[in-house]
Amino acid sequence: MNISVIGCGYVGLVSGACLASLGHHVMGVDVDQARVESLARGESPIYEPGLSELILAQHAQGRLCFTTDIGRAFRESETIFIAVGTPPAPSGGADLRMLFSVVDDLVRMVDGPKTLVIKSTVPPGTGEQVAARTAAARYPIEVVNNPEFLREGTAVQDFLHPDRMIFGANSPRGLEALREIFQPLIDRGYAIFSMSRQSAELTKFAANAMLAMRVSFINELSLLASAIGADIESVRVGIGTDRRIGPSFLKAGVGYGGSCFPKDVAALEYQMRQVGIEPCLVAGVEKVNQRQKLIFAQRVLAALQGVQHPQVALWGLAFKPDTDDMRESPSIPIARTLAAGGVALRVYDPQAMDNARKILGDAVQWSRDVEDCTRGVDAIALVTDWPIFITQNWARMAAIMRGKHVFDGRNCLASGKVAAAGLYYHAVGRPELAPGAGRPGSMGVIPSG
Ligand SMILES: NC(=O)c1ccc[n+]([C@@H]2O[C@H](COP(=O)([O-])OP(=O)(O)OC[C@H]3O[C@@H](n4cnc5c(N)ncnc54)[C@H](O)[C@@H]3O)[C@@H](O)[C@H]2O)c1
Repeated sequence: MNISVIGCGYVGLVSGACLASLGHHVMGVDVDQARVESLARGESPIYEPGLSELILAQHAQGRLCFTTDIGRAFRESETIFIAVGTPPAPSGGADLRMLFSVVDDLVRMVDGPKTLVIKSTVPPGTGEQVAARTAAARYPIEVVNNPEFLREGTAVQDFLHPDRMIFGANSPRGLEALREIFQPLIDRGYAIFSMSRQSAELTKFAANAMLAMRVSFINELSLLASAIGADIESVRVGIGTDRRIGPSFLKAGVGYGGSCFPKDVAALEYQMRQVGIEPCLVAGVEKVNQRQKLIFAQRVLAALQGVQHPQVALWGLAFKPDTDDMRESPSIPIARTLAAGGVALRVYDPQAMDNARKILGDAVQWSRDVEDCTRGVDAIALVTDWPIFITQNWARMAAIMRGKHVFDGRNCLASGKVAAAGLYYHAVGRPELAPGAGRPGSMGVIPSG
């Protein structure tokens, strides 16, 4: 099938390359000329494991190409995926201007019957609005919704091995079109659930809000754990092993970030208010998340009170490991709060330095590597759990630091090793460890019988 994917960002690029790998002929379209030029050379403009290799391979097979010419893409494909951004509007709702501009282009230029697949995350009811716009076109345009559940860092894998695919269609023809596109994955046994467009749209919002809610739930409990001397890591294992609850998205830390959870939770909250429902639960999710980042930064500042010209190494900038994505990263408010508190910041991230520079500019010192970042600092504040941080040699780190504080914002470090190196270990919702201290009886499994 000839498919065009409008928007070559994290979702559009991965979708386009993966659809090509399923045998379709895919044309990726973006308004960003530089992005299209680098893609035409076979270079991925984003860091995503396995994506560059996939783009190169599909390009070489002649199944994947890129252009800025949206009219050509419309003419040469029967199916059009929209994967443009749907960022937050000042109201808190989703800004759908980029999406509607593509829809209006299609209505103007359409030269035959088409299927329009909305891949971008959109508020429930958007498909209706799109269908109302396309109704004026000269040829029929079947509007369907196919929300994307990929995670940055494992996006290619997630697209090609989905837990399930959601087909949102309000007509048998729309459903059939989606089936045809994804037949290779259906043949491999991956589950599909067909439902109305509105339900598909709401399913995506519900999934993101549920995951964000779990993170905020454990983070709120981590505050209580700290206050009463409990260990949130033990609590996490204790509840996560209950099959009704499960272990995912229950790790206490500095809060979630990224381009999806914050904006989708805000858009859900906004839409509920719009239809007259008080979002009692949903409204608390982002509030907890904001507070969690500030509390972490304030704990670092409190530990450094009285230190002359305090210096902190910020380990990690991306909103999570295995991506260069800085959108809504917790590192941004944490860095800004520390800097406002008079701390000189040295920062390092394995992939996100270029993107982070555009946001943090001269407010921080940019390091070459972990050692360069850590030399002479009074404290380490780990914000992103990249493996390179988890596997550090703590005796070496202790030797090059000026102070002795390690703040583990992801509860990912081996606390005993940090303390054994003569450092203070401060986690999220866990008792603090003094230099040389162990963690008695933590998370041991008591054998039955
Ligand atoms: N990033 C994720 O992990 C993820 C996961 C699931 C769903 N989503 C959703 O997918 C959508 C896209 O997210 P993203 O992270 O890929 O965004 P992105 O910002 O990385 O990519 C969007 C791309 O669209 C391009 N674009 C904008 N207007 C255009 C137009 N008129 N014509 C052609 N190209 C245009 C931009 O230049 C950009 O390259 C959003 O709705 C998002 O919520 C994202």
